This record gives sequence, structure tokens and C-alpha cells, in this order.
Amino acid sequence: MDAEKIVQELSLEEKAALTVGAAFWFFEGNERLCVPRTLVTDGPHGIRKQKVIDSLMGSGESVEATCFPPACLSAASWDPDLIEEEGSAIAAEASSEGVSIVLGPGTNIKRSPLCGRNFEYFSEDPFLSGEIASAWIKGVQKNGIGTSLKHFAANSQEKKRLVSNSVVDERALREIYLSAFEKAVRESQPWTVMCSYNMINGTYSSDNRWLLTDVLREEWGFEGLVVTDWGAMNDRVAGIKAGLDVEMPGPDDANVNAVVKAVKEKRLSQEELDKVVLRIVGTALEAEKNRKRGSSYDKISHHELVRRIASESFVLLKNESLLPLDGSKSYAVLGEFAEKPRIQGNGSSQINSNYVDTPLEMLKKAGYDISYAPGYSLERIDDDSLLKEAVALAKEKDAVIVFAGLTRESESEGFDRTDLSLPGIHDELIEKVAAVNESVIVVLYGGSPFLMPWLERVKSVVLGYLPGDAAGSATVDVLSGRVNPSGKLPETFPLSIEDTPSYGNFATEEKNVLYKESLLVGYRYYDYMKKSVLFPFGFGLSYTTFSYEDIKAEYDDELGKGCVTVKVRNTGSRDGAETVEIYLEKLESLIFRPLRELKGFKKVFLKKGEAKEVVIPLSERSFAYYSVPLGRYDVEDGKYRIYAASSSRDLRLSVDVTVRGNKSPQVMKWRPGDDFALLFKDGKLPLSPESSGITMNSTLSEVLEDEKASLVFKPLVDAFITPFQGKSDGMSRMQVAMAADMPLRAAAVLTGAISLDEIREKLEELT
Ligand code: BGC
Repeated sequence: MDAEKIVQELSLEEKAALTVGAAFWFFEGNERLCVPRTLVTDGPHGIRKQKVIDSLMGSGESVEATCFPPACLSAASWDPDLIEEEGSAIAAEASSEGVSIVLGPGTNIKRSPLCGRNFEYFSEDPFLSGEIASAWIKGVQKNGIGTSLKHFAANSQEKKRLVSNSVVDERALREIYLSAFEKAVRESQPWTVMCSYNMINGTYSSDNRWLLTDVLREEWGFEGLVVTDWGAMNDRVAGIKAGLDVEMPGPDDANVNAVVKAVKEKRLSQEELDKVVLRIVGTALEAEKNRKRGSSYDKISHHELVRRIASESFVLLKNESLLPLDGSKSYAVLGEFAEKPRIQGNGSSQINSNYVDTPLEMLKKAGYDISYAPGYSLERIDDDSLLKEAVALAKEKDAVIVFAGLTRESESEGFDRTDLSLPGIHDELIEKVAAVNESVIVVLYGGSPFLMPWLERVKSVVLGYLPGDAAGSATVDVLSGRVNPSGKLPETFPLSIEDTPSYGNFATEEKNVLYKESLLVGYRYYDYMKKSVLFPFGFGLSYTTFSYEDIKAEYDDELGKGCVTVKVRNTGSRDGAETVEIYLEKLESLIFRPLRELKGFKKVFLKKGEAKEVVIPLSERSFAYYSVPLGRYDVEDGKYRIYAASSSRDLRLSVDVTVRGNKSPQVMKWRPGDDFALLFKDGKLPLSPESSGITMNSTLSEVLEDEKASLVFKPLVDAFITPFQGKSDGMSRMQVAMAADMPLRAAAVLTGAISLDEIREKLEELT
């Protein structure tokens, strides 16, 4: 039977049942009409399929799988083809486990370097994010496995992520926070989109018709399912009206009954429900078709692919002739990360890796003369003895390789960092070692930018972000020169937290998060404000050098198409790859806009001495800005300067083109520093009102502060917080932080310790 026929045959109760998950990891099916349940798992950088798949909680032990580099590193590849390969490999693993949909890619914009979950996102720039997300989706889906583009949208902090209200003006929303999603939807049509937990301008994403229907489906042509993030459902009936298809996780009888009741009472029409059900049934049938095909994969070749992706994405930040390593030198290898590299971030994306190789093991295997001292401990509070031992070793050797970075405890889903420093004694170790040995190489792991107070005192710095399970081999490939580094930063490394665009408006105690920097996110801010940075967006060195020649640009106004052509030459003594970055600037613009914006890029491999012509396409969108009064993208008439650049601050060549467009565009008077409210209708901020008393949307921490409510809801606290309290490991910290910020309605579906109906009854008792 086809999907439409099935929908006709389903009863109202059966239809309602399909709109809520069957279990933690299954969309509901219908046995009578042979609609199978659909198995979905996290993602994004591998398969996290729980061993006990029908368990109620989502954090159980998972099957072994390949841990690919998380998004923070894969975006640094600037290589969509490579990331498409990663997608295909992940699809093969999903298929071998009977998984139909992988929950990724995470495509939120990095608004602040402090966001605890930045490691799971690609970039501060929407164009780069959109290109990489699209490629990953294509790679997965061409193998018959679905994806879930998440978290839609404006979910750029962990603090209060389930209840916060992202207050963003529409132009910034469109140009910065939605546009990577738009690109991925238009170019790759993901099977599903996962709505975010938070509110946007006062409405929860799960109930947001403007977001889920007007924009996503009607403007962008999305054809798939919208699912909630796990526990994000605010109002099931409002969600159906808004275009939210599946509530996850389940079961949740209260919401199934609410849907039935709403139809009976004519608050929800059959047609509205049928639209949702048709999409659910269609996806289930499609998933089943592909699931039957099955597949297997080769663990060794996937590990090799991780190694290739990671080594081609590592970013060489500084090199004063210490790299590649010299086989005739003796090296002190310091820092416990050499032995236990941090390969991925903490939280729902955490893969149970098949096999991790380590830098220490691979340096030995490569035959280098190395001696190791841990320098710090990843498990216990540091004492001076490890530091002293490391410094003593550093004194004896020709050169030093120090491994340092962000630890599991300092960066995680569920909470945000509070400062930009490295944790523990990592900085101190580097400083002390640099004081006794002038040949210091630093290798850094971590999912987000940090400060480097010792930068002037070391010779070479390699950033490995989070390299996945080939951490050791990839690191040694780059250190040894077997691979010439070609990664570039997908985000700015700032000089201080005070310098960052969202400083003062990020992860505060407020539920309303004001995106006051508007369009000026990442390099758009630093460039507009003329601020110095530690390392600019798009920056990355190589063991060779490149020159840029002969830039040309053409653009046909009628067709809305054009291209930039530039010749790149490898002028150094090694083969290597360069990414050409294309930035656009509107000359004499009448409207407020960032100085320059990334509109294209292309990575090209060149043998030493070789030159190649690189062609990068332009479209009408490359020149456009979002006009709120017109309700669409608009192109301003006039001259645009196009730069071919090696980083956002290393503009090599430029050429001007004249574009025919709107001669009287919206003149935008607002400038950074002006009243933020002026960017909103009638000059009023769309704030979420503070709720009075305990409601479904009160968080567990609010419940705990209320004497009566804390007694009534004790079972929830016991299930969700008590087992993790007082523990300092990353997972426990995450659990406690997430639970504190979790509204009652979400805690019910995520713990199964209490039902939504029971919560309603208890809330009535309280009043
Ligand atoms: C995360 C999602 C994840 C889901 C299922 C949520 O807490 O935000 O990214 O896919 O859990 O684990």
C-alpha cells in the first residue's frame, strides 16, 4: 500500500499515535498497516547506537563505531568533497546497524567561542557551514540513509538551552542563523530537520509556524519531516499546526490523547493532522526500503579515512622552522594528551570508538627519538611533581613537543565555558618548558578557540581540534610532513573574551538572550570594528607557499550567474593544497552591512612549482542582503569588490564588478551601538514573559527553589540530578547542568520517571 492509501485507512487514534515517538530511538509505526518503526541514532560524526536500543534513557553504552572528526575539525578542511566521503562512510555504518536516520549535521552558527557545544558545529560563517553541511548530507543520503539537520534554529548556547528565548532581528536571523540551513535544505534536501529547544523571538521552535512552515517548507521547498530535539515539544497540538511532525522521544500518551481530543473538539482539523501523518508514513516506507538492503563496512579503511580527513584539516598556526620534525633530533614529548588524546566532544554525539591511535604510539612507530613525560594529569588534580619532571625532561632534549588543550571537563554539551583560558596547568606547562628550551612545538586539541598567552615564546603551533579516532596517526602525518597541513580556521581566535561580538549578551542568567551584535558575528564583527585578533577566520599555514595571479570576474545580471577566476601557484618546495577564499564587499553601500563576507571558496592541490586556474561560481545571492520590508533577498545596485584571499585578513587580489540591482534599497539607519529594539517591529523586543509560579515550562532548578514544588517533584530530581551530583567528570557535570535547565515537560519525556499527565495533576495540587 502506498503512503496516501495508508493514511486513508488509519483511524484518528492511529494517526495521533504516529505523531509521537515509540521509544527513545524509534519513530512510531503501525503494525496493522505494516508501517514499520524507524530507528534513528546520534550522530553526527559517527553512529551512536545504544546497545540496549529500546531503553528509556538515551545515554546508555553504545555499539562500537568509527569516530570521525567532529564538525569543528571537518569544517577546517574547507573540502566539501572530503566531507561527502565521510557522510558515505557513516551511512555504511548506519546501514550495517539497521539505523535509518543519523541525527546530524549540527549546523548552528558559532556565536561565541564559549558555547560548550561548538565542537559539534561547523563555523561562525553561514556560507562555509552550509557548504559543509550540504556535502555531509549528500554523502549520507546517496546511500539510502536519512539525516537530521539540527538544531533549527538560533541555538547557539547551552545555558538554559531548553527554555531560553533567542531574540534576533529578522535580517540577522535570515543572513546569519538561517542561511546555512537554507543552503543545506535547498541543495541536499535532508530527510528530516530537527527543531531546536529554544524559543525564537518569543515562540518555541517546536510551535513556530513561521519557522517550520512559512520559511522551511514554503520558501525553501523542504519536503521531509520535522522532528523535535529530544524533549523539545512545547505544545503537541500547536506543533502540528506549525508543521512539526514527530515528537521525540516517546512514548508520551498524554500528547497522543491531546491530539485526538483536539481533532474531536475541532481545534485541529483532519487535514492538518493528515498532512503530518502522510509525511511520517512516507518517511517510514522509504526508510524500510533502504533498510532491507543492509550493508557492511571495513573498519580499517574507515579508520584510514578518519586519518585522511583529520590530517587534511589540521591547522598550522605558527611555524618558525621547527616543523616538519627532524629525524636526527631528540624530542621531549610532554602532556598527557600525547598518550590519551581528546578525540571528540562530550555529550549526545559521543562515539564508542572502534580503535584509537595515539600520538605517542605513532611518534614511536615513525622512529623518532622521543622521551615522554605526562606533565599534567587528565584524571586527578595536578601536582607539581608532574610539571617538574616534564620541565626537567625538556631541558635535556634538542626540542620539545607539548600536547595541550581543552579537556572533557572544560568543554561539553550541556554547559558553556566561562572563560577562554586553557584548563588546569596547560598554559603553565608550556610557559615553563619554553623558559628552558627555545625549540618548542605545541600541538593543541579542543573544540573551540582559546587564548595562547605563550604564543610568542614557542616556535610552532599545530591545531588538531578534535581529530576523531585516528588522532595519533593524523597528528604524526602533519608533524612529520608526510601530509602538508592545509586546514584553515573556520572561526576567529580572539585576543580576549571582552573582544567577542556577543560579550555581555551570551549565556547570562537571563532567559531572553539578546543577539545585539545582529549581523556582526565572527569576522564580520572583528573586521567592522577594526579589532586585532589572535588568528583570523580562514587562516592556516602550510609547509609550502602560494601566490595568487590574474584575477577576473564576470557576472550576468539577467541570468543571475557569474564566476571569479584566479590562478594559484605553489611557489615553495613541497607539494600542498591551498584554499582560495572569495570575499565580497559592496562599495558605497546605502545600507548597513558587514565590510566583507565569504561568498565562495575552493581547495586546490598543487605540486611544487605548479599553477592552476581556480574558478569559483557567483550567484545573485552572493550580492544580496535580506530586506525585511520587502520580505525577500534584494540586490543593491552598484559596484562590488571581489577579493581572492588566503584568509579573511590576507586579501591577495581584487577586482570590481558592477551589478544592476535596486537603485533605492531599504536605507538602513541602524548601526552597532544603536538601540537594539529599533531592529524590531514597532521598536519592541519580542521577549518571553517571566512565568509566575511553577508551570510545565519551569526548570528543575526553579522547582528546587520552591519549597512545595521540590517535594512534589522529588522523583524527577532523584532520577535526573541526584545520581550525578558532586561528581566532577564531564558527563556528570553535563547531566547536572542540563537537568537544572530542563523544563518539567522535557524532564518527563526524557526520564520516563513521571508522565506528563502526572505532572499536570501535581501542578494542580500545587495551586
Ligand atoms: C541533543 C540532540 C541529540 C538528541 C538525542 C539532544 O539533547 O540536543 O543533538 O540528537 O539529544 O540524543
